[in-house]
Amino acid sequence: MKGWLVEEFGGPEVMQWADMPDPEPGPDEVVVDVHASGVNFAETRMRAGTYSGLQRPFVLGLEGAGVVSAIGENVDSCAVGDKVFFRGRGSHATKCLIKAYHAFPLPDGWSFEQGAAAGVGWLTAWHALHIVGEAQPGQTVLIEAVASSVGSAALQIAKAKGCWVVGTASQDAKLAKASEYGADAVINYKTENVRERVMELTEGQGLDIGCMTIGEETASDLIESMAYEGRVVMYGSTGGRMVTFSLNIGERNLQLLSMSIDSSARYVPETIPSFRNEALAKFGDGTFKPIIDTVLPISKVERAHEMIGERHHFGKIILVPDN
Ligand SMILES: NC(=O)c1ccc[n+]([C@@H]2O[C@H](COP(=O)([O-])OP(=O)(O)OC[C@H]3O[C@@H](n4cnc5c(N)ncnc54)[C@H](OP(=O)(O)O)[C@@H]3O)[C@@H](O)[C@H]2O)c1
Repeated sequence: MKGWLVEEFGGPEVMQWADMPDPEPGPDEVVVDVHASGVNFAETRMRAGTYSGLQRPFVLGLEGAGVVSAIGENVDSCAVGDKVFFRGRGSHATKCLIKAYHAFPLPDGWSFEQGAAAGVGWLTAWHALHIVGEAQPGQTVLIEAVASSVGSAALQIAKAKGCWVVGTASQDAKLAKASEYGADAVINYKTENVRERVMELTEGQGLDIGCMTIGEETASDLIESMAYEGRVVMYGSTGGRMVTFSLNIGERNLQLLSMSIDSSARYVPETIPSFRNEALAKFGDGTFKPIIDTVLPISKVERAHEMIGERHHFGKIILVPDN
């Protein structure tokens, strides 16, 4: 097999399209022949060497879609020949070894590109809103970086739960698209005061749930925008990790919650089954639609990383095999 290998951390040029042995599935594992894979912000940090706990060398990619080509012992949730979308490390490759519980049936009529846009962003947003945030109908929810892959999934999940949703982004073009996808209000956090706008929009009440992903640049504004008993769910720090805020949050009984789908003890027992039972049905009936920004041949992975840094995308950048 071949895959985009990182042996030394650095710029996009360190990624090498390398030969490597085909993976063999162990118990509870599955091998997928990859037909499309999704690109994530985290991969740019993995390549650069600023992602915690990563061993080199490694193959890039965190999710994809394709056809199951081998299964290990105990696997009865899928079979050789099944079309699946999946979460799993090393997906920017011709084959990917994954845990069987991370292989989801490709909904009828979906392309592999659509499947490759339905993994990490959707599982993260589902864990954030359904499991950690416990979003309820009628609640007010702010989604930072609403155009991101996680953000565009969170928007659809929050709307399907009957929440009122405000999305933020750094560019008006992305905010216009967020409105088309159902955001009730939008805020350009570069040109507007987020707290003032939230208070106007919520008639002084503030937010029930704040999905925090930018970190240092916007965290104190988001915390100041929360309502009494509000819940901040932090799942990213694209804009820096060091945050200062007043402990007057105690007066408002704010809950600051943080999460990683890699390490959460609730992810496998709660998030995976509820995603399989509830989110897959909504993919199937068209309520949830993974959003694809751009499809590139896999040879253009450097361009994909540049695009993540340029921040113009709405939804997912997808890689497919070169013709
Ligand atoms: N906790 C978890 O388990 C988990 C799992 C998956 C992803 N994540 C996190 O979720 C976030 C979104 O990931 P994604 O793959 O969906 O990202 P993405 O599609 O690449 O979008 C990231 C967006 O973040 C915003 N941003 C703000 N400051 C930035 C900066 N300094 N550099 C780059 N982007 C910046 C940009 O939108 P604007 O310019 O509009 O602000 C950018 O488009 C990331 O923080 C990622 O690490 C967490």
